[in-house]
Amino acid sequence: MVEIIKPIAKLDQIRSLLDESGLQVSDISHVHCPLFFGIQSDSCLIAVIGLELFGPVGLIRSLAVSKAHRGNRLAHQLVSFAEHYAAERGVDTLFLLTTTASVFFQQLGYEQVARSDVPQAIRTTSQFSSLCPASSDVLSKRIAGG
Ligand SMILES: CC(C)(COP(=O)(O)OP(=O)(O)OC[C@H]1O[C@@H](n2cnc3c(N)ncnc32)[C@H](O)[C@@H]1OP(=O)(O)O)[C@@H](O)C(=O)NCCC(=O)NCCS
Repeated sequence: MVEIIKPIAKLDQIRSLLDESGLQVSDISHVHCPLFFGIQSDSCLIAVIGLELFGPVGLIRSLAVSKAHRGNRLAHQLVSFAEHYAAERGVDTLFLLTTTASVFFQQLGYEQVARSDVPQAIRTTSQFSSLCPASSDVLSKRIAGG
């Protein structure tokens, strides 16, 4: 079933879902707020993805699905949505860091890259520079230009 994916502005709901999913929330504030998109059920946020865009490159972050709703392809739908959203805004390559879901993203066409190959704009994000451990896998996917 294809769910309705909407921009999400309620930071308390986002933080709560990320926190219960074991993901970092410390850089999310009204001062620094990535784009967030999510799926709601009965007004509750059950799945979320974050996106930071820097011209031709972008960072996917904060992908989480509440435990009760996992295994229903919600994460797949959110990643696909984020890729289309970014591509429509001129992004050609997406990056992400993960300690938990490399295989998940590899199945969606993401490939591991060396940190030295990551563009400067992505390196300056808090996810890259401080929040995600140095041991995190860095993956990327070209989403435009075939
Ligand atoms: C990873 C996560 C977002 C997947 O959400 P989901 O909605 O259950 O995933 P989907 O239903 O779209 O996809 C399910 C498929 O992905 C696989 N999968 C799910 N999590 C996975 C992981 N961490 N690593 C590898 N594969 C994974 C499942 O085995 C299933 O495979 P199948 O299609 O062969 O049966 C969810 O488990 C989660 O929120 N985890 C905690 C936060 C996290 O680790 N986020 C990712 C890092 S940013």
